[in-house]
Amino acid sequence: MTELDDLRVCGETSVGWCELTQPNETTDDFGNLNPTNRGFGVKDPYAPSARRYDHPEIQELREYLKNHNGFTGLDICDPTDLDRIAHVFFRDGFVVVRDILSKKRLEEFREGSTRILREILSYPGTKGRKYITETGRLPHRYSYGTSSASRQLLHDAVWANMVDLPTTTPILTRLFGNADYSVIGAGGDLCLPGAIEYQHLHQDIQESFQLSPERIKQAKQVGVKLKGDCSNQLSLVEQRLVTDFTPPLITINFLMSDLTYENGPIRQIAGTHAATHAPPPPSQEPAWMRLSTLVGADAGAAMFRDNRGWHGATPNLSKEVRSLPDVEYGAPWWSSSHIAKTMPFEMWNNLSEHGKHICRFVKADPGTWPPGAGVMHPLAEGRRKAKEKVKSKPD
Ligand SMILES: [Fe+2]
Repeated sequence: MTELDDLRVCGETSVGWCELTQPNETTDDFGNLNPTNRGFGVKDPYAPSARRYDHPEIQELREYLKNHNGFTGLDICDPTDLDRIAHVFFRDGFVVVRDILSKKRLEEFREGSTRILREILSYPGTKGRKYITETGRLPHRYSYGTSSASRQLLHDAVWANMVDLPTTTPILTRLFGNADYSVIGAGGDLCLPGAIEYQHLHQDIQESFQLSPERIKQAKQVGVKLKGDCSNQLSLVEQRLVTDFTPPLITINFLMSDLTYENGPIRQIAGTHAATHAPPPPSQEPAWMRLSTLVGADAGAAMFRDNRGWHGATPNLSKEVRSLPDVEYGAPWWSSSHIAKTMPFEMWNNLSEHGKHICRFVKADPGTWPPGAGVMHPLAEGRRKAKEKVKSKPD
């Protein structure tokens, strides 16, 4: 029996806390340690000096987080309170909504998240390490999406069944102004116990400031008052209002466990969805940003976030995996030309009518299996090989 046999993404587990994995260590495409190009594995200059649960620096950081971590007065909305959800979302660039997943759906998502994580961790690490660190990421942090050889998990029934829920569809329709938005991918991220570093603040997408007539129409549909239908008829303030209220992408992160001060609650910097400048690097990030986390949001809740907002992962000093599977949606006006067709046709065919509509751009042709789908690998080279080789559903 190995630690992976009793792995769970909720509650205490024995995975994580590999002391041989050095702070800020990362890998290249082939698994070589600490390459010059660190990719997304930006160093945390304030990381504790050892990855050990009871190390004095870890205990000190845990105590500090216990006293300070999390927003004061975090808004947590009911799923049917669409007015308040929209108000908080457009104000802050994100909103937490409770009870998005029924007990049954939460269990399904926990099962899927556990199964996929077990595959990612099944490759033994080098030189005694418990795991392989994902290419270009900080230790003990993995992306469900980028670890998949197809870059998405829409071929997995658990993820596919989450794209159109009775609780999420009315909220997305409200935030996008109409029901013509589309699924562009699904995955999410997780951190194991012992992910001691802060991930750098970043945006998933930058604002283009392109104001198409469709985008202006969407702004009106979500309630922005405008005096014209084309960008050259709008004042600078009106143009800015259009960009602020029309996120190109919205991601729903589903919470598999309660977020606590010590289990790696995600941090979101309120209001930065409308910022035109870059977030500060780790060396210049103020303490209040490091502490702007969603402590207090419970399992079964979800965060709807504008992907332009500054965000980042935080240390998981607990004994529990912090897992946030997600589904990613593009605005009705947003370009869909480069979206990979990662949902097998048979999977698409089983969706509701609305589910089929919003998955129109990710639907693969009948009889075509998305290249690489079904293979998880922490290293880019492993995924590249799988994408070349796997052209039909793996056993
Ligand atoms: Fe991100």
